[in-house]
Amino acid sequence: MVKSSSRGRNRVIHTPNALQHDHSKTRPRLRSHVIPDAEVIEDIPQRERISLIPILRKSFEGKYLWHSTKTLKEVDLVRAALVGKTPVGVSMVRMLNERAGYIYYVAVLPKYRNKGIGGRLLDDGLRLVAQKGARDALAVIPEGNISSERLFLSRGFTKKIFADLSAAFGRKNAIMMYRTMFVSWGEAVYMKELDSYAKS
Ligand SMILES: CC(C)(COP(=O)(O)OP(=O)(O)OC[C@H]1O[C@@H](n2cnc3c(N)ncnc32)[C@H](O)[C@@H]1OP(=O)(O)O)[C@@H](O)C(=O)NCCC(=O)NCCS
Repeated sequence: MVKSSSRGRNRVIHTPNALQHDHSKTRPRLRSHVIPDAEVIEDIPQRERISLIPILRKSFEGKYLWHSTKTLKEVDLVRAALVGKTPVGVSMVRMLNERAGYIYYVAVLPKYRNKGIGGRLLDDGLRLVAQKGARDALAVIPEGNISSERLFLSRGFTKKIFADLSAAFGRKNAIMMYRTMFVSWGEAVYMKELDSYAKS
């Protein structure tokens, strides 16, 4: 992995070798091929975010498509995985408060899934919120979204209930966090401590 600040953007480059990571011990499903070109993860400024809408259209439907498109325009930090110049994955990240980061959305074009891109976008988002001071990261996952649940479990997230957040952040903060995350019926909150990411 190579970090650079080309074009003034915070970018992380994954070489093809870095993509050849053996997951055979961690899951039974078939991993597809190595991506031909180096893959880059970089900040996408407001004016260019429209180019990421096709990824959302192929990844979400109903209220999640509506909300992810709205969030894309508003959220502080949007990161994209690019293969060549083509955006193939997107993540949206923000701080919930001084201590907690929030991974709003991670989405990868269907053709590019199961190659480790979603995981790298998530690692990248966790690193960024850790650098902003977050000690924990949170995510909201709709029940039954297996890919999403597996993605977050693979990075050590665990399911939490309101009482857990209340114990960790205080009741008032937990209520605010639930509101900001827009947690609704049929969705579960997941959380992860960021100790290791803060050092990376
Ligand atoms: C969820 C999503 C982003 C995963 O992207 P991806 O590029 O396929 O994920 P990766 O290949 O990096 O896999 C990351 C981890 O998730 C797990 N995973 C992802 N999809 C999985 C699936 N369908 N079944 C089992 N495990 C899966 C893998 O075990 C992997 O863990 P590992 O590194 O220990 O092997 C992608 O499926 C997607 O865009 N889905 C639609 C949008 C969505 O639901 N987003 C999530 C909520 S915001």
